[in-house]
Amino acid sequence: MRLYYIAGNWKMHKTVNESVALARELAARLSCCKEKVMIAPAFTALSEVAKVIEGTNILLGAQNMGPEEQGAHTGEVSVLMLKDLGVKVVILGHSERRHTYLESDALINRKVRLALAQSLEVILCVGETLEEREGGRLEKVIDTQLCEGLAGVDGAALDRVTIAYEPVWAIGTGKTATPEDADAVHAYCRKVVAALYGEQKAKAMIIQYGGSVKADNAAALMAKPNIDGALVGGASLKAESFVPIAMFR
Ligand code: PGA
Repeated sequence: MRLYYIAGNWKMHKTVNESVALARELAARLSCCKEKVMIAPAFTALSEVAKVIEGTNILLGAQNMGPEEQGAHTGEVSVLMLKDLGVKVVILGHSERRHTYLESDALINRKVRLALAQSLEVILCVGETLEEREGGRLEKVIDTQLCEGLAGVDGAALDRVTIAYEPVWAIGTGKTATPEDADAVHAYCRKVVAALYGEQKAKAMIIQYGGSVKADNAAALMAKPNIDGALVGGASLKAESFVPIAMFR
């Protein structure tokens, strides 16, 4: 059976208590969910949320990490600290990191390689701005973000990489790419992976769509042949909006 991967990115929302309450509700309501499910609370809530979801079918994710294992990096959180808390997955290259905090493909690649070397799973986010799309540069942007983001990652480690295609213009805006548009970009991502790692790896690659995914568009998006899951922001902040996405079938 095809595996779908539904991830919730809580971004800079929720206190520890609020995070624990949501994690408890999700653990109860998603216990029979057959999809792969991950939630990524804020760093400050990871340790308490880890206790709530331990032994459940929900994976613990982090939203970012520093590019070094340790050292003089004020304000950064290290991969070793994340592992210490039970984090299994890290989201890297999110468009908010790229555009607001000016993370380059080279920096994202250092994080990707470090996370994989430390046995974590990675969700590598890619996506174009509206200006890039309208200027005909969509494929070039995706190609660069994937090739540079995955530089130096060997085929064996690729099994722990998920790609999230998140058109920047669709994030938090209520504008979703149509299933057809998204599927075409997912197919292109797969083509890039095939060129880098071969057809078999490209076929096996899980590619999530992200950008205003809601209960009422999730099923249509994931019905497309190249859309294998969703990276959900706003709708992941409440059980009543996240559960129907994770239980879309
Ligand atoms: P959104 O965010 O679902 O609120 O559009 C998605 C994301 O940024 O991962």
